Amino acid sequence: MFRSLIALAALFFAFAAPAYAQQQAVSAQITIHADRPGAKISRYIYSQFSEHLGRGVYDGIWVGPGSRIPNTRGIRNDVVAALRELQVPALRWPGGCFGELYHWRDGVGPRPQRPVRLNYFWGGVEESNAFGTHEYFDFLGQIGADAYVSANVGTGTPAEMSDWVEYMTSASHSALAQQRRANGREEPWSVPFLGIGNESWGCGGDMTPEFYADLLKQYAVFARSGRDPHPAVVAVGPSGDDYHWTEVVMAQAASKMDALSLHHYSLPTGDWSRHGPARGFGEDQWIATLAQTLRMEEFVTRHSAIMDRYDPQKRVALFVDEWGTWYDPEGPSSGLFQSNTLRDAIVAGVNLDIFQNHADRVRLAAIAQTMNVLQAMILTDGPRMVRTPTYWTFMMYRPFKETTSLPSEVDAPAYRLGETTAPSIHASAARAEDGKIIVALVNLDPNRAATITGRIVGADASGVSGQILTSGAMDAQNTFDAPDAVVPAPFTGAAVAHDRLTVNLPAKSVVVLTIQ
Ligand code: AHR
Repeated sequence: MFRSLIALAALFFAFAAPAYAQQQAVSAQITIHADRPGAKISRYIYSQFSEHLGRGVYDGIWVGPGSRIPNTRGIRNDVVAALRELQVPALRWPGGCFGELYHWRDGVGPRPQRPVRLNYFWGGVEESNAFGTHEYFDFLGQIGADAYVSANVGTGTPAEMSDWVEYMTSASHSALAQQRRANGREEPWSVPFLGIGNESWGCGGDMTPEFYADLLKQYAVFARSGRDPHPAVVAVGPSGDDYHWTEVVMAQAASKMDALSLHHYSLPTGDWSRHGPARGFGEDQWIATLAQTLRMEEFVTRHSAIMDRYDPQKRVALFVDEWGTWYDPEGPSSGLFQSNTLRDAIVAGVNLDIFQNHADRVRLAAIAQTMNVLQAMILTDGPRMVRTPTYWTFMMYRPFKETTSLPSEVDAPAYRLGETTAPSIHASAARAEDGKIIVALVNLDPNRAATITGRIVGADASGVSGQILTSGAMDAQNTFDAPDAVVPAPFTGAAVAHDRLTVNLPAKSVVVLTIQ
């Protein structure tokens, strides 16, 4: 009885919370089915992608041992500390399109003797090869992430890929394993994920799916044979709505892959020649970006349905290994540097919700890109570093790692501007191993708060805590001078009583709740 009274009082105060009372709230409902647990949410959904592009690797990660920027064996300490805290599960490298130019032998051995090459895809800049295989694994070790290596199919050969895998993973005394030892690494490294090419329909060689499927089969034989365990073979998948690519590659080569990739970027304008600015945008570009992001739901659903026909047991995973916002670059156009604002934090929340809601098939996702490129986690300027709003969304979603997804249904008014419509509320839910229920709620509407009433079927909740990420402006950002402008804060706008949940969700916000 006493517990019920406390819970009712909490519900009342949640509705009366003065901080959000001035906003004209819409009403929404959510039903969470704690009685219908779904698939386990893979921790690899929160992975990252770092390419030799702009200041993604050089400056962002690698400054060299002689740098005045504090570093460990050339890798910047501030970035390592921030990524360690984030618990990055895996890091895809070296590309991207750059991966289709990359020859791994250029990046091993004494650094002064490594050849300088040209990075044709990204401005034709000189690639020093100072950051190569050993530096990559050193970085992974420092941040605690697993390897996701992307092998060169466009300008490489199966032999080159096979040798690279042997160099990295063999415990034998083969010439390649001995070469690794001579270069300073005694023990083999683990390579759980191996990408066979990148965007082979475009920068990876402009191939047809039929041609690529044949190449995949050839490469997969040499990636898998005699290797125990062998890396998970990741096939190049479609971009966006290219369902034909998925159909052909699955029909011809499903048994040769362990995962199929999917790439989808959110461009405000949907126009590759004029993307839209990263900041200083209007509400038209806010909603347009989110509408582009929401297309991920359709892509994942429809590509998964095709995969289901060839792989009903869901052995082959869908890896969304490039996703995020893509705005007009600030600085050199080939550097793809862009500011990161509250809009990006919302985009991240919506995408992570979609991946979590499709945990049965989506078992890895890698945002593009970790440092200084596209929707970055972290931006650097010389010795300075700032964590972006996207970083903080990832931080808030950490309780979802290795939980079991729970189905949820949201009934919320649409958010409309002109001809564009989006759901105002996006959500996902999961059950942690200790029985707690984790709920993410994203309010896409930049103007209206939402009063959400919910039912958690099968739960008897006694308490809730949470965090919120929001700000006054759609393009609020963390700058080098004000690095903590957009950071998570404790959230007091939620209350639970038995199987009931109420949330006052401010406009343009991401909230993650832990319910016990
Ligand atoms: O992430 C930037 C680029 O986008 C990658 O190199 C490529 O794979 C994609 O087109």
